Amino acid sequence: MADLSQVKGINARHIKLLQENGISTAEMLAMSSQIIVADIKGLGDKTARKLIWNARNALEMTEFTPVSEMHENTEMFSTGSSELDRILGGGMQTGKVTEVFGAFKSGKTNLAHTIAVTVQLPKSKGGLGGSTAYIDTENTFSRNKIIRIAKRFSLKPKEVLAKIFHARIFSSDHQDQMILKAESLCKERNVRLLIVDSLMALLRAEYVGIGMLARRQCVLNNMIHALSRIAEMYNAAVLLTNQVATQMKGMFSADDAIGGNIVAHGCHFRIQFKTKGFSANSSLKRQAVIVDAPDLPPEECEFYITSAGVADSEEVEFPEGQNLNFDIETIYEENDQGDDEELDDKIPENGNGKQLTDIKGIGKGTLENLKKYGIKSIEDLLDADPKELSAKISGISNSMILEWQNQAK
Ligand SMILES: Nc1ncnc2c1ncn2[C@@H]1O[C@H](COP(=O)(O)OP(=O)(O)OP(=O)(O)O)[C@@H](O)[C@H]1O
Ligand SMILES: [Mg+2]
Repeated sequence: MADLSQVKGINARHIKLLQENGISTAEMLAMSSQIIVADIKGLGDKTARKLIWNARNALEMTEFTPVSEMHENTEMFSTGSSELDRILGGGMQTGKVTEVFGAFKSGKTNLAHTIAVTVQLPKSKGGLGGSTAYIDTENTFSRNKIIRIAKRFSLKPKEVLAKIFHARIFSSDHQDQMILKAESLCKERNVRLLIVDSLMALLRAEYVGIGMLARRQCVLNNMIHALSRIAEMYNAAVLLTNQVATQMKGMFSADDAIGGNIVAHGCHFRIQFKTKGFSANSSLKRQAVIVDAPDLPPEECEFYITSAGVADSEEVEFPEGQNLNFDIETIYEENDQGDDEELDDKIPENGNGKQLTDIKGIGKGTLENLKKYGIKSIEDLLDADPKELSAKISGISNSMILEWQNQAK
């Protein structure tokens, strides 16, 4: 990375102004568009053009290169599902922006959680040994899920949590700000994966109506441009999740990603996640379809959502490693941030002093869900018919309940 001060004709005031607007290296300046840089108050059109061109000259970006001299540095890491990896041509790719869109509960956030962990695996195990920046606009990030995924991949949960840099976002300009901020994480904290979950939620809520559309698309364009530049500059993977809107096409209806052509053209890979049948079904099987990719056939595959992220089957194996035998609750106590899976006094106990949350896989959220269906204690769980119960509770499978009952016994 070249320092801004190395750009010909730049002075301290220019550097300050550029840095305040998230442009902190000569590479970033060289990859910026003149319109955006000229928009910085106090810089002006002529200076913006001069500085950008000088930066490009310094970085030898003003010459065509014979393709024989180009080097590919794309790297891949696993999504947690070998089927999904297969249709993606090997896994999530670095240097590129991948958009995953789909209806609610189609598995987008689950994929985001899974790859936030798999990117940390060593290269020999399908990862990149990198960290993750997680931009969370919907408040759906779950540390408990990360801990389970870490255990699934035989990683130490505490170390995994320390390598995920999370930002809870409250407005679209906050989102924009944190995308630029993520760049410094790539530079300083070895971030190789940048997640925005979800890209459009706040924009959709803030820019309402056709009158706001042009402004919304402009903001969106800047965000996607910045993300694409970060992906390329730091050889990082970018995952954007996106919602869908149902469009009528003649007699038929189809789900289409929102954000229009700006998102569609701005992302290198576009994948659609689908749930089978009605949204009320409780199956955890999902379908993924390659909608657009520069060099991939339009394939599709099936994968599953599990308690430990996306996988090839309904059940994932948790390896028994000696470094893994500490409880989720221990981590919460140490970090003093206990939430979902923290124990509370109201949890009913059975005669042995054991409670439902002592069972692996039952956290506070699941407990609340179980309570609604009359399962308040270990005894209630043992008395329940797994088939009946799984049919009633969305997201809890028959085999999951059987496993819990085995543990309870
Ligand atoms: N611990 C778990 N075990 C099994 N399945 C789970 C678990 N947690 C969540 N799920 C399932 O995952 C689904 C939700 O997936 P996810 O949050 O990834 O969807 P999404 O595509 O991000 O949806 P949205 O558009 O609402 O953000 C639910 O159907 C739920 O049943
Ligand atoms: Mg989600």
